[in-house]
Amino acid sequence: MRLIFIVLLIFSKLFAEDFITMKEYAKMLYENPRGISCKECHGKDGGEQILGYIIKKDTKIPYKIPSIQNLSFEKFKLALTQEKDSRSIMPSYSLTEDEIITLYNYINHKEK
Ligand code: HEC
Repeated sequence: MRLIFIVLLIFSKLFAEDFITMKEYAKMLYENPRGISCKECHGKDGGEQILGYIIKKDTKIPYKIPSIQNLSFEKFKLALTQEKDSRSIMPSYSLTEDEIITLYNYINHKEK
């Protein structure tokens, strides 16, 4: 009986190690997708970012990255699936529908 208890304890510890919450998974995906991290350009939470400045005729023009918060899911998905404009610096990703949903919910603070 005691042995079974110990064995169960070890098992539950092992499973506990593997278990991550949906939020942790979403954060991992946002910060480490298969490709360059979204965070590099969109910041910690997807708000508007100034990535750098372009100097044109002595004026400093900020290179802004639009906020990706509060977009419709359709727009969000399109940005991650459509062929990119050649001027865009955003890389192409091959994310699954589930991964896109996870990222969308993460950016918009929706649980699950
Ligand atoms: C190298 C920089 C870079 C990285 C990395 C990047 N993006 Fe972007 N993203 C941009 C830029 C710049 C735009 C603005 C539109 C454009 O230039 O294509 C954009 C646009 C978007 C849009 C559309 C915004 C709109 O208003 O339509 C979404 C959604 C988006 N990014 C999500 C993501 C997600 C999710 C990731 C990670 C899987 C990611 N991006 C990684 C630079 C980046």
